[in-house]
Amino acid sequence: MAGLCFDMYGTLCDTSSVRTRLGEELGVADRLVAAVDETWRRKQLQYSYQSAQMDDYEPFWSITDHALDYALAQYDLDPDAETRERILGAYDHLEPFPGAVETLDRLSAAGHDVVVLSNGDPEMLERLAENAGLAPHLDGIVSAHGVRTFKPDPAVYEHAAETLDRPLDACRLISSNAWDVAGAGNAGMATAWVNRTRDPPEAIGARPDVEVTTLPAVVDALGSP
Ligand code: LAC
Repeated sequence: MAGLCFDMYGTLCDTSSVRTRLGEELGVADRLVAAVDETWRRKQLQYSYQSAQMDDYEPFWSITDHALDYALAQYDLDPDAETRERILGAYDHLEPFPGAVETLDRLSAAGHDVVVLSNGDPEMLERLAENAGLAPHLDGIVSAHGVRTFKPDPAVYEHAAETLDRPLDACRLISSNAWDVAGAGNAGMATAWVNRTRDPPEAIGARPDVEVTTLPAVVDALGSP
């Protein structure tokens, strides 16, 4: 049986669910809320790559915090400290994607080990897994924090394989993030890409081994031993 490693942000849980909190807290037009949200997520990922490249690791909560600073500054928004904390706190309350629990349960029932493998730091992952109702359906949470770098650094996928006590090719990353799939494949992990928005695959790195458009479709692709 495989060790199945689910990405958290954007795969099991929907990062765009911060939009509701942003709208309530900032009280600005929907178009501006969407722009802040988009910049926040893009900078969060960019800062994680930069931090890994510069060998200047900071936990993902702190990366997310800096990315929010950038997104607010970009649009000349300056909420007070308490409002800002409530906005950041939305990351603890992301919505799970439809079928997330069912997908984890069915893959567990098929005999796979099912864990989260995320750039999030352990505390933020535990809070989100609990709040989103995913925690009881997981065999564990593996964080990039264990090796103080971020996906797609191969060290993170290797760390997951070691934690699962399996060779890399007996583990599979399941992610909606194309760059994550390309990186895991390059590191030697099997992959499944949940391509909800029907994007082209990354033009660098490994191609996905399996491609589906929803989480439950992962079960049909991988359910059988
Ligand atoms: C994760 C995000 C960064 O690793 O996709 O969960």
